[in-house]
Amino acid sequence: TTHKVGYLIGSLATASINRKLAKALVKLAPSNMQMVEIPFKDLPLYSYDYDANYPPVARQFKEAIAGVDAVLFVTPEYNRSIPGGLKNAIDWASRPYGQNAFTRKPSAVIGASVGAIGTAVAQQSLRSVLSFCNSPQMNAPEAYIHFTPDLINDHGDVSVKSTEDFLRNFMEEFNMFIARVLQVLPKDA
Ligand code: FNR
Repeated sequence: TTHKVGYLIGSLATASINRKLAKALVKLAPSNMQMVEIPFKDLPLYSYDYDANYPPVARQFKEAIAGVDAVLFVTPEYNRSIPGGLKNAIDWASRPYGQNAFTRKPSAVIGASVGAIGTAVAQQSLRSVLSFCNSPQMNAPEAYIHFTPDLINDHGDVSVKSTEDFLRNFMEEFNMFIARVLQVLPKDA
């Protein structure tokens, strides 16, 4: 069966290393994983004043999440947490109360950093948020990518064989995790 996976790239930067990482993951994903980016850069800053009437851009964002079997977060670490833009997007998706788009939606987290601990702290922070949003998360394998220059090029080609193998395995594990979650939590249940 096909698994439709929406991915959110935590960085808005044009030269984002996490965008490069996402490109590599799309290339290395098993053939039954259909990868689609869910962009969030045009969302205004969330406030519950919008709850009564979400703007079209926010409705589309929530519909995009509702339309996928699982969500993959590919995010940098900013100041030991996730970037504000990504947190804002999650807040939009989680509301209005009772209409949280992440509930029962399987997720996985990965990130690249120029620092040696490879977004580990940001990922822990994101995992707390996703727990509250009731998203079943893949616990393992964890993936902390220390991005060295030229590790992944603009086309998503990985220059280090062991890293390429690691990323391919990460996607295979995520694919199996999604299958297990969908077995107990069918999408239209
Ligand atoms: C960073 N960077 C960073 N790196 C890290 O490992 N831990 C951190 O807490 C931070 N904090 C941080 C804050 C801000 C505002 C910026 C702009 C950067 C460095 C970061 O790893 C590097 O800029 C990456 O290139 C960010 O990933 P993207 O945006 O290129 O995908």
